[in-house]
Amino acid sequence: MIRNITVIGSGVMGTGIAISFATKGYDVILNDLNDELLHKAEKRVAADVALLVEEEVLLEKEADTSLNAIRYVANLSQAVQEADLIIEAIPEVIEWKWDLYKQLEEMKQPTAIVASNTSTFPISRLMEKCTFADQMVIMHFFNPAHLVPLVEIIKHEQTSDAIVEEVRNIMKEIGKAPVILQKEKSGFIANRLQTALMREAFSLLAEGVATAEDIDTAITAGPGFRWAFTGPIEIADFGGLDTWERVFNNVASELNDTKEAPAIISDLVAMKKLGVKTGEGIFQYEGEMVSNKLLERDRSFIRLARMKK
Ligand SMILES: NC(=O)c1ccc[n+]([C@@H]2O[C@H](COP(=O)([O-])OP(=O)(O)OC[C@H]3O[C@@H](n4cnc5c(N)ncnc54)[C@H](O)[C@@H]3O)[C@@H](O)[C@H]2O)c1
Repeated sequence: MIRNITVIGSGVMGTGIAISFATKGYDVILNDLNDELLHKAEKRVAADVALLVEEEVLLEKEADTSLNAIRYVANLSQAVQEADLIIEAIPEVIEWKWDLYKQLEEMKQPTAIVASNTSTFPISRLMEKCTFADQMVIMHFFNPAHLVPLVEIIKHEQTSDAIVEEVRNIMKEIGKAPVILQKEKSGFIANRLQTALMREAFSLLAEGVATAEDIDTAITAGPGFRWAFTGPIEIADFGGLDTWERVFNNVASELNDTKEAPAIISDLVAMKKLGVKTGEGIFQYEGEMVSNKLLERDRSFIRLARMKK
C-alpha cells in the first residue's frame, strides 16, 4: 500500500505533483539538489495552495495540513528511504535520469514503485541501464500538475499488472483522470494530439489565414470549448460518421504534414524570443502581465475543474 511519497525534482512539475498528493492526505517528501532550490519550491507551493484557499477548494485548516504534509529534504538517501512511491521529475536529460536511477537502486526500498514524469522518453530507454524495470512506470502529469486532471500511465514490458492497477487507483483516489497506454508510443497520447493541432495552427498563421489571436479563439471558443467534456472520438459519433468521413476526405489532403518544428517557432527561438520566459514570443509580455496571466489561467482551471465535478 502506498503511504509515503517522494518527489525528486522540485521544479515546475515536482511542486504541482507534491501538492496533488499532499492535499489528499498523503505524506510527501520533496527532494532537490540543494536547500536553496527547495526553499524556492516551498514558496511556490505556499502560493499555489493559497490560491486553492482563495478559490474555496480548500479550507484554511486543510491548507495548513497540506502544507505540513510536505517535507523538504535535500539528502537523496534520506528522502527516498521510506518511500513507497518515488516520482522522478528532474529535467529531460537522459544521462541525468540514468544517473539518478543508479543511485535509487542502492537507496530505495526493494518494494518501492518508481515513476518518471518524462514527457518524451520511452520507458524502455529510461530503463536501459537499470534493474528495477519491473517496478517502473511513466506517470505523465500535465502542467500545472495540481490542477490538470490527466495523468498518462505507461508500463514497461516487465511491469506487473498489479503495479499498474495500484498506480491507477492512487491517481483516481487523488482526483486525477488516469489513462493507460497499451503500448509504447513516443509523445504518448495527449502530446501527439496537441502537436498535430499546433502544427496546423502555426501553418495557418504562416499562411496569413488569420491572426494569432483569432486562431487561438477558433480553438478556445470552438473545439476547445467542447473538448473539456467531449473527446474527438465521441465528437465523430455525435456529428455523424458519414459527415466526418466527408470532412476527412475533403480536408485531410490539405493539412500541413511537415516533419519539423514550424519555421515561425524556430526563427523566434534563434532570436532568443522564447515566449513568457523572455517577455516575447508570438505575443509580447510586459511587466506583471506574465504573473497576471498565469494567475488567471490557474483560476480558470480551478473553476473548470469544479464545474466538471
Ligand atoms: N514543464 C512541463 O510543462 C512538463 C509537463 C510534463 C512533464 N514534464 C517533464 O517533467 C520533468 C521535469 O520538468 P520541469 O518542467 O518540472 O523541470 P524544472 O526544470 O522546472 O525542474 C526540475 C528540477 O529538478 C531538479 N534536479 C535536477 N537534477 C536533479 C537531481 N539529480 N536530483 C534532484 N533534483 C534534481 C532541478 O534543480 C529542478 O528544480 C521533465 O522530465 C519534463 O520533461 C514537464
